[in-house]
Parts: sequence; C-alpha cells; structure tokens
Amino acid sequence: MSDQDVLDALQRALETVIDPELHRPMLQLGMLRDISVDGDAVSLRVVLTTPACPLKDRIQSDLEAAVVGTVPGIARIAVVWDADVSSTRGLPGRQEIAGVRNAVAISAGKGGVGKTTLAVNVAIALRLAGARVGLLDADVYGPNVPIMLGLTGAPSAGPNNRMQPMEKHSLRVMSFGTILKPGQPVIWRGPMLAKALREFLYEVEWGELDYLVIDLPPGTGDVQLSLAQSMPMTGAVICTTPQDVSLADVSRGIEMFHKLNVPVLGVVENMSGFICPHCNERTDIFGAGGGRALAQRYDLPFLGAIPLDPRIRGLEDEGRPLMADAPDSALGHVFREVASHIAAEVSKENFSATAGPAMPARPRVPPAA
Ligand SMILES: Nc1ncnc2c1ncn2[C@@H]1O[C@H](COP(=O)(O)OP(=O)(O)O)[C@@H](O)[C@H]1O
Ligand SMILES: [Mg+2]
Repeated sequence: MSDQDVLDALQRALETVIDPELHRPMLQLGMLRDISVDGDAVSLRVVLTTPACPLKDRIQSDLEAAVVGTVPGIARIAVVWDADVSSTRGLPGRQEIAGVRNAVAISAGKGGVGKTTLAVNVAIALRLAGARVGLLDADVYGPNVPIMLGLTGAPSAGPNNRMQPMEKHSLRVMSFGTILKPGQPVIWRGPMLAKALREFLYEVEWGELDYLVIDLPPGTGDVQLSLAQSMPMTGAVICTTPQDVSLADVSRGIEMFHKLNVPVLGVVENMSGFICPHCNERTDIFGAGGGRALAQRYDLPFLGAIPLDPRIRGLEDEGRPLMADAPDSALGHVFREVASHIAAEVSKENFSATAGPAMPARPRVPPAA
C-alpha cells in the first residue's frame, strides 16, 4: 500500500468522526487540522469551539476507534488539543461589545439562590480551562462580586480615557460594587441604570475575551430588561434551588428571555443536597431533582447540580472563591463540569445561529407551567 493509499484511507476514516455536540463531521467543520502520519502513528490537532469542552475523552476515543485498526498500518493516534472559541453574531439592533466573543448572563428568579457564587466560580473554571474571561457584576441591588473575589479599590482610566477593568484570579472584572459606596441606597431608576450599564459594557477596555460572564440582578425588572434588550447576549443561564423551582418567578425569568429572543442555555440547580463534611453522606434538605424537572418542563438543557456545602460559603466570606482555592477538589470538579456544559451550550448556540436550520433549533416558546 502506498503512502497515498494510507492517506486516502485516513481521510475516509476521519470523515466518519462526528462532533458529539454539533452533530456534523469534524473534518468538514475544520476541527481536525495538521494531520500527519509518522510510521504507525497519526498525529493531528483538534480545534474545539471551547477549551472547556466536556467531551474531550469521547472525541479522543471516537478518533481512535475510527482510525486505529481501520487504516492499514496505523496503531496510534496523538491528539493535540486546541480551541478557537466561537462568537455570537450581533443581533439586529444590538451593538456588539468590541473584543467580546460571548456574553453569558447568570440569572435567577430571586436573590440568595447562589447566582453570584455560580457566576464567580464558573468564570474562574472557564479561565482555568484556558479561556479569556471577564466578569461583569451587574447586580445593582447586591453587587457582591468584589466581596467574593476579595477585590478592593476601583477601576482606573486607561489610555483614551476608557475604563480599565480590574484584575483578580486572572479575570477582568467590573462591578457596580466598586462604584457604589457601602450602604448607599440604589436610587437609580431605569434610564440612569441603563446608561451606567451601557458604560460598563461599551466604554470599558475589556480587551479580547472569549466569555464575559454577567451576574444579573435577580428577578425580571428594569435592569435585566434593559441589559437583555441592549446587548448581544449569547444566552442566559438560570440558577435555581431545589425548593423554588415551582415558583412563578423562575418561569417568569425564562419567559422574559424567550420574549427578548435571548436563548436560555439551561438550568443549574444550586444547594442541591447537603454533603456532610464529616461523613460525606448526602442529605437532600430542600428536596432533589427540582432543577432537572424544571429544565425538562421547559425543554432546556440541565447544566448540573451544585451541592450545599459550607466550604463554599466560608471561602467566599474571605474573598477566596472555591475555584480559586481548591480547583481540584470534588466540589471544584462540579463547578468545572457546570462551566463545561455552559461553554458547550454557547458553542451549540453559536453554531445553530450561523449554520441555519440544519441544527434542531432551541425551542423559543415555553410550554405552559
Ligand atoms: N452551594 C452552596 N453551598 C453553601 N453555601 C452556598 C452555596 N451557594 C451559595 N451559598 C451561599 O449562599 C449565600 C447566597 O449566595 P449568593 O451567591 O450570594 O446568592 P445570590 O447572588 O443569588 O444572591 C452566600 O452566602 C453564599 O456563600
Ligand atoms: Mg448575588
């Protein structure tokens, strides 16, 4: 068999490998590059749409299965992982944020469910996976990101008088908490808030970002509306606890995003079961499975469940989020997994937005509760 025959067989074998999330041949999508053969080994570079891809193991074994044993003389495959994060195309009438490929909002029906905890830890998890990440604390009613990150000081003006984001845990951060004085009541009303938010989005030197994670204020008020209406958001993640999933405000949140044409990327259940720090036994204090049921009811992806664990709170109070302090702990892996699922949904959303109707469209109209 000639070298050319081997390359032809390799081409045919690689053509059969389907991206498990985009459901298209990876070769056709341009995700398999720098393919070469050296003796009995194939090497190639896999360019994913996110460095936080949850399915690397699956892709690796699919590639192996396609090539090893089917292409004559090939016994091994060496994969180099790479990523080029896909980007949200600007929605009509919405201004893109220069340099920001994806804006992902973390939203909740009410306060206290762990929205900020989720936003902060997901942002760090994406950063640890290798993505360039910003965090915008847009929760004007409870801007807790600085406290959770241990961030002090205020953003400074950079060249051309544009605001420079602050930096912590390798994230670029902007927060209303750094410009509101402690105890100062939020007297801003709709138009003023909208203006301040626009400044945070468009007049900050974010630089190149793969993901801008936005901690939205809870509920479905003016701020969420003006944010969602004015910016090209890739999608929103709904954070809930097991006990409030039946509440109308969670459903209202989902419906608000549907109406504004902002894709809902999925549901995360927080405080899902208590893991005893002494015996590791799990107790479902607030019930179990509510987040998954909610996701099912609205035909949305379920992005994961984060247990109730006192370590999360203890570290946050000291300005050290869990993902910065113990990224390789069991809890750290839970956040990594949630972050991966969010990143995967972002990739799918971008793909379906550009690839037309070949992808099953995310249902926009929710079924009645
Ligand atoms: N999974 C969890 N386990 C334990 N404590 C948590 C968990 N998630 C959040 N908390 C704590 O609950 C409180 C509310 O969380 P926070 O992220 O501030 O909620 P929100 O932003 O929705 O108001 C914080 O004190 C936080 O440390
Ligand atoms: Mg909060």
